[in-house]
Amino acid sequence: MKCAVFASGGGSNFQTLLDHQKAGDLHVSFAVLVTNNSSAFACERARRHNVPVVHLAPSTFVDEASYTRALMQVLTDSGVELIILAGYMRKLPSAVVSAFRNRIVNIHPALLPAFGGKGLYGEHVHQAVLDYGAKITGVTVHFVDEEYDHGAIIRQETVRVEDGDTAETLAKRVLAVEHATYWRAIEALAQGRLRVENRRVVGHV
Ligand code: GRF
Repeated sequence: MKCAVFASGGGSNFQTLLDHQKAGDLHVSFAVLVTNNSSAFACERARRHNVPVVHLAPSTFVDEASYTRALMQVLTDSGVELIILAGYMRKLPSAVVSAFRNRIVNIHPALLPAFGGKGLYGEHVHQAVLDYGAKITGVTVHFVDEEYDHGAIIRQETVRVEDGDTAETLAKRVLAVEHATYWRAIEALAQGRLRVENRRVVGHV
């Protein structure tokens, strides 16, 4: 399955996907890394693995329509079948979401639908979990639809919130679980083990 990875930051999730692909337990190919941030370390990871990098910053286009056209062109030219968001900080144009319905996945560092939505990213998520006093958090792999953190859920894993946790310590434990989880969900998709019925994902991850 030909994948595009979208990343804006460090790309540690992307790295685990590259590692599992190299190890032979993730059966996908990475056609392109798309970023809105040319200095993202994710770009360096891509180059080290000979994955082409495309930098597309919406702000450099005259309007949303021309940005969307450029993005669709990249995806079409490289024959992308699945879009993997891995710390991508921009909302995808709705035309892209619609063209890739049930073929865009994201990982969120909490148990959706709690602690998700606009503004809840990075440390903000973990701080919100702590401020609420939740005892359990976790990770959610989900399909992407037109709303933030809203598409059908593919897989969730839990992480206990410990006394004395800070946003930083919690983020670290959650990230380790993300790394163990994301590739398995993507492998299940690549193997055709999942299908969507209404908004429920059915099948074995
Ligand atoms: C992860 O916490 C992920 O859940 C969120 O963005 C972060 C990306 O981290 N969507 P990294 O760039 O993969 O290290």
